[in-house]
Amino acid sequence: MLVRYKKSCEKIAMGLLSFMPKERELKKLKETMNIYQTNPNWHLFLWKEGEAFVGLVGIEVDETHFTLHHISVNPSFHGEGIGHAMVEKIQQLMPDREMRGTDFTEAFLKKCSEAKLALI
Ligand SMILES: CC(C)(COP(=O)(O)OP(=O)(O)OC[C@H]1O[C@@H](n2cnc3c(N)ncnc32)[C@H](O)[C@@H]1OP(=O)(O)O)[C@@H](O)C(=O)NCCC(=O)NCCS
Repeated sequence: MLVRYKKSCEKIAMGLLSFMPKERELKKLKETMNIYQTNPNWHLFLWKEGEAFVGLVGIEVDETHFTLHHISVNPSFHGEGIGHAMVEKIQQLMPDREMRGTDFTEAFLKKCSEAKLALI
């Protein structure tokens, strides 16, 4: 289940974000969290499995599209489809906007759209 990030989950979110290679340094991690907490166009969500937060997805929303800046899943839960599910849910939350990737998230987004096409 995708839930909106709350300040009370800050440490959990930082732990999940740190699985992204470009977010490993604490300074960078804090800067990124600060953007999500202060910029109204940046939105952070967590993925909950039962009572545990096991995934994170972060987007920046513009008028016509949104950019997937961050996506990560706790390594203990890799390969269970959570990454794909988060991408699908986030697109459902933004039905009128086209999703874009970054240099860091593009490859996984491509994988997700290929999997979707294979189902058609
Ligand atoms: C990328 C990530 C979120 C995927 O989460 P996940 O829940 O394991 O993903 P799913 O189970 O939905 O999908 C797994 C598939 O995605 C593929 N995949 C994983 N990371 C990928 C990447 N960076 N680029 C392309 N495909 C990727 C896996 O090889 C697997 O492929 P398969 O189904 O053919 O075996 C997770 O690997 C992660 O947290 N990685 C570390 C953080 C990171 O680097 N994030 C940015 C990468 S885009």
